[in-house]
Amino acid sequence: MVQVIPMRTFALSPLSFGPLWLVMFALSLRGDFQGSTHLLPYDEDLLGYTKSADAGPIARLQERLDRGEITLTRDDRFGYLPAILRELGISTSSQMLVFSKTSFQRDRISPHNPRALYFNDSAYVGYIPGADLLEFTSVDPRIGAVFYTLDQATTDRPRFVRTDNCTECHASAKTMGIPGHLVRSFQTDESGRVDLLTGVDPINHRTPLEKRWGGWFVTGTHGDQPHRGNLVGKAAFARQESEPNHVGNLTSLERFFDPARFPAPGSDIVALMVMEHQTHGQNFLTRVAYEARLQLGAYGHVNYLKTATEALVKYLLLAEELPLTAPVQGDPAFVRDFTARGPRDPKGRSLRDLDLQTRLFKYPCSYLIQTEPFLQLPDPLRERVYRRMYEVLSGADTSPTWSRLSASDRTAILEILRATQKDLPKDWFP
Ligand code: HEC
Repeated sequence: MVQVIPMRTFALSPLSFGPLWLVMFALSLRGDFQGSTHLLPYDEDLLGYTKSADAGPIARLQERLDRGEITLTRDDRFGYLPAILRELGISTSSQMLVFSKTSFQRDRISPHNPRALYFNDSAYVGYIPGADLLEFTSVDPRIGAVFYTLDQATTDRPRFVRTDNCTECHASAKTMGIPGHLVRSFQTDESGRVDLLTGVDPINHRTPLEKRWGGWFVTGTHGDQPHRGNLVGKAAFARQESEPNHVGNLTSLERFFDPARFPAPGSDIVALMVMEHQTHGQNFLTRVAYEARLQLGAYGHVNYLKTATEALVKYLLLAEELPLTAPVQGDPAFVRDFTARGPRDPKGRSLRDLDLQTRLFKYPCSYLIQTEPFLQLPDPLRERVYRRMYEVLSGADTSPTWSRLSASDRTAILEILRATQKDLPKDWFP
């Protein structure tokens, strides 16, 4: 069993209102779903976040530890980090470094000692050199992000501790109002302290590069596209105005700190772009799953979620992705590790193939539809998403909303999905 730290009780939080209120609330806001931010009563009876067991990878790893099937070896330099990354199947090539003081261990974080984040489809790991705790978010297909810490002190039995009060930051307007993942972009001072007025969110494939990565280090090349990464302090931001990219296109971070203090040398630009697509997509899936369960409980159908479904389909087909104006190149190791996870169709194509010339993915359909949070969406909702996707991909829907998908994109995606998608409805096949 994982140890659980109970959620803080909020005296006047929306979570303490009754079910009737929550249905009214969900309904009254259905029209503004896209990017919607109001807090959902995710801990009410029907949804029961804190009472739900986590089916994600961290809980499973703790079970294997409890059964004595595995042990975690402690590394002299990085503590339990390398062993845990290995067990979770997360590659160090996904390393991204954030130096803004935006975490519950914020005092430990600075431009000289950034926080490293690693991820795959189902878990995220945070590591700060010298800090007591490793931080984790696990992707539970039903309840969204579930939070854990693990003490780095040497012990016979390292333990993941479920920590529901992380929702103080991780369930808010910034995470679509459900327990979710966070990515921000701020101007910071020399120490990494953020200027709250400069915050940008949500960050995903719709966000211009120009607004991304404030408070993050970024390695890789991106031509003349400016971004806020690697800018430490007011002077650096001011210089960016007259000299865009004066710290852009960096392939080493040595000028800021000793990269040997981390398992990988950089903060990969492609990993960042994929992670930003993924985190918002996962929050989106959790949000609609919660909404669907509320609506199914109240009405037995999800007909009122039409706007939400449409917005989700737009997200999954990257209809509003901002085009790249120059090629982006990061560490080939990340691209190799990310794309290797497939699956591939008989022509060798995968939704994970990256373009990086004019857009993120070669075939603009999110690989998230091949992950559990999508596959476990309540049936009526998933069927609705499939129906709309098929109308777009088959060419029946010719609305300008989908103009970024060429006829050959639509055909390629359709063929890839027919060959690789697990539970595709029968009418998708000729
Ligand atoms: C003070 C607000 C705050 C609190 C409290 C907080 N976080 Fe975060 N967390 C952030 C922000 C902001 C980000 C986005 C990255 C960044 O800017 O550092 C983030 C990102 C993360 C990530 C990267 C992936 C993801 O899912 O967003 C992990 C892992 C994480 N936090 C774990 C935790 C855990 C575990 C706790 C509780 C023990 C926690 N956080 C509490 C603000 C917070």
